[in-house]
Amino acid sequence: MNGTRSVIEIINKRRSVRAWKKTPITPDHLNSIIHAAMRAPTAGNQMLYSILQVDDQQKKDKLAKTCDNQPMIAKAPLVLIFLADMQRWYDFYASSGVKELCEKKNLPYRTPKESDLLIASCDALIAAQNSVIAAESLGIGSCYIGDIMENIEIHREMFNLPKWVFPITMLCFGYPKSKNKNPKLTRRFDEKYIHFRDVYQRFGKGDFDVMYKKSIEEFNKMDNKPPYVENYGQRFYLFKTGADFSIEMERSVKKAIKDWNEAKY
Ligand SMILES: Cc1cc2nc3c(=O)[nH]c(=O)nc-3n(C[C@H](O)[C@H](O)[C@H](O)COP(=O)(O)O)c2cc1C
Repeated sequence: MNGTRSVIEIINKRRSVRAWKKTPITPDHLNSIIHAAMRAPTAGNQMLYSILQVDDQQKKDKLAKTCDNQPMIAKAPLVLIFLADMQRWYDFYASSGVKELCEKKNLPYRTPKESDLLIASCDALIAAQNSVIAAESLGIGSCYIGDIMENIEIHREMFNLPKWVFPITMLCFGYPKSKNKNPKLTRRFDEKYIHFRDVYQRFGKGDFDVMYKKSIEEFNKMDNKPPYVENYGQRFYLFKTGADFSIEMERSVKKAIKDWNEAKY
């Protein structure tokens, strides 16, 4: 245990870890990770999320493919999927006769819509980050996998997810393989591009030249290999925002939201 490290130090030294020892997470550590997640604040203390632990190696192997072919997922000692979850509350409402009450009182019976998905996703993500920081304090490295939002039909089938449950993020955990206690941190944008006061700020080319200076310098040093582009912005778009995985995520999330909105009790 790193009892002497402050929370701020743990946060400031954290980086994503993508290579883990095979050692399983100890039951005590697992307990701390789950309970740290469960102490997170949630909207109205409703805990609009569930945590699905994937132990089955065949399922991990499949996730490594369905989440944009990331083999490290199959090797993670601990895989947790954080689910935005309105199903539990609606099952409770059904068992409590809430719909019947609404009919009797002539009130609309509202079922989960986009707003509920967003608030449940807030709950799930805040819980997820609590688990990341708790793990980090125990010497356990983690990496988020946003690609769990892809292939909704396959993931629903694999984990028996009802329509009012959406896998908003996945976390892979393990004891880091690297012995380097002070690994290089990833770059962040300068604070002035991120932290505003009173009004939102937009930026133009001159600002972006400064904001992305280091990335632009790196791009300029690279051999321009296919897909031959003129600048860092074009390259980044092709590899991330406009890439196949983003197109699949768009399709999958659209389908999940449609089903979420249309699901009936
Ligand atoms: C929502 C979200 C989704 C992410 N998805 C992936 C992923 O699918 N694969 C991966 O290797 N890293 C993923 N990451 C990790 C980021 O790449 C990483 O946090 C970022 O590059 C900053 O690096 P750092 O965490 O080491 O500071 C994700 C992070 C977040 C917050």
